Amino acid sequence: MHRPPLDELLLAVRAICRRTDAERDDVLQEICDLLQGKVPHYDWVGFYYAESVPRVLLLGPYAGAPTDHKQIPYGKGVCGQAAETEETIVVDDVTEEGNYLACSLDTQSEIVVPVMKDGAFVAELDLDSHTIGAFTAADRAFLEEVARLAAEWF
Ligand code: SME
Repeated sequence: MHRPPLDELLLAVRAICRRTDAERDDVLQEICDLLQGKVPHYDWVGFYYAESVPRVLLLGPYAGAPTDHKQIPYGKGVCGQAAETEETIVVDDVTEEGNYLACSLDTQSEIVVPVMKDGAFVAELDLDSHTIGAFTAADRAFLEEVARLAAEWF
């Protein structure tokens, strides 16, 4: 599997996040397009926004196939679990995950990274891969840094 240098990609994400002439949705969309376009095993990349009343996740900018999961209650699926625990969740094989919402039948692994702003859960970054066990410790560290940079826009 071709893996582009994530440190170079992080520089590009930093540059996107430094934009001063953009709205939040534009910035997050650019991040999604960049990651999905550059990393072959990132097949779907999207943000969900956190709503506290009611406790649901709302689909924000994404790159990849359209999904039916535009609104996800906290606790449901991998996204909802991450919203409740406020911790990164890596699922190496989605067929082994009991609490999972299928977005595409091609998806084999998934990672969800919370976006935290001043200690509050504000959004999450969700990635699906058509490759089993696609998300390594390096992907996780990279995506957690992307989430920290994106948090500046909340
Ligand atoms: N698989 C996710 C649902 C969102 S889609 O992957 C875009 C989940 O189990 O929460």
